[in-house]
Amino acid sequence: MKGKILVTGGTGFIGSHTTVELQNAGYEVVIIDNLSNSNADVVDGIERITGIRPAFVEGDCTCIDTLHRLFKEHPGITGIINFAASKAVGESVQKPILYYRNNLNILLNLLDLMPVYGVRGFVFSSSCTVYGEPDQNPITEDAPTKQATSPYGATKQISENIIADVIRSGSPIKAILLRYFNPIGAHPTAEIGELPNGVPQNLVPFLTQTAIGIRPMLSVFGDDYNTPDGSCIRDFINVVDLAKAHVKALDRMLEDKSDKALEVFNIGTGEGLSVLQLIDAFERATGVKVPHKIVERREGDIEQIWADPKRANEVLGWHAEASIDDTMRSAWKWQQRLRERGIM
Ligand code: UD1
Repeated sequence: MKGKILVTGGTGFIGSHTTVELQNAGYEVVIIDNLSNSNADVVDGIERITGIRPAFVEGDCTCIDTLHRLFKEHPGITGIINFAASKAVGESVQKPILYYRNNLNILLNLLDLMPVYGVRGFVFSSSCTVYGEPDQNPITEDAPTKQATSPYGATKQISENIIADVIRSGSPIKAILLRYFNPIGAHPTAEIGELPNGVPQNLVPFLTQTAIGIRPMLSVFGDDYNTPDGSCIRDFINVVDLAKAHVKALDRMLEDKSDKALEVFNIGTGEGLSVLQLIDAFERATGVKVPHKIVERREGDIEQIWADPKRANEVLGWHAEASIDDTMRSAWKWQQRLRERGIM
């Protein structure tokens, strides 16, 4: 066994896939999740894939007493991956206090307790949203961050700064910030995947719900951008590939492969795909048509962004591997599984 890792938000979309990859790599996992945007059944899915049931604590990381209890009941945690956060861009504009309170208090509590319980490594789930609209693509980690366009984005920027300040103050921890591009897809077994609450805001869940008939039509937000086909361009990263980046990041910190206390990596494929190209890829990979129409631009959208993942490739030894067709098939299989289970 490589060590015990606390995964906050571990029943969520990225947290559950990361728990699977941690267990496959020989780590023991303790999940804490308040189930605000996920479901305890996810733990069963993780067990069906890996044959191992992670410890699960239903609780809220904004409560420091809950965390004290967790660290006492699960001694010997050496690393934390912090996924627990509110993440809906639009909602954050409506409820900024909720977003700042939740996302920042979780982070502060964890950073505060790490030295108390001897936890050495911290992986923070950041986002390419910290870059704003890039001056050039692909974008490297050294590009300047720009004024956030939403409170959600601001919490990611502020969190990155808080982690840097805490390390600068001499806290005996190491941290890696992973800036995700657009995570999509599901585990190839379809035992776990993305389970959006209500009407999905993100492209792929909306697309698969349209393909299966839950939504009549997918709206493509704008075809008059300055891109080859006029729709926005993103770097769509397979969620299992993304999950594996977390294992590499933990290995690096816990095996002391670097003497830097703070590092930052882009986690993307290095390729930009437009919204219309993604719809084509889905139709090609699954043979299922997606009714769609062009509508007005969505406020606050970035025109185009894709990663330069060279640093993660070379330093972490991590590469995105899944093809877009396999990723689309995994998303579709997951949507069909939800239907079979009568969930949607
Ligand atoms: C947003 C956030 C990102 C966050 C991610 C996951 C910003 C700038 N980006 O990414 O930080 O990590 O959500 O929550 O805040 N689209 C459609 N029709 C739809 C839905 C989306 O055309 O029904 C288009 C959008 O206009 C966009 C692309 O698809 O061009 C991707 O959208 P989405 O999946 O929502 O992700 P981002 O906005 O890129």
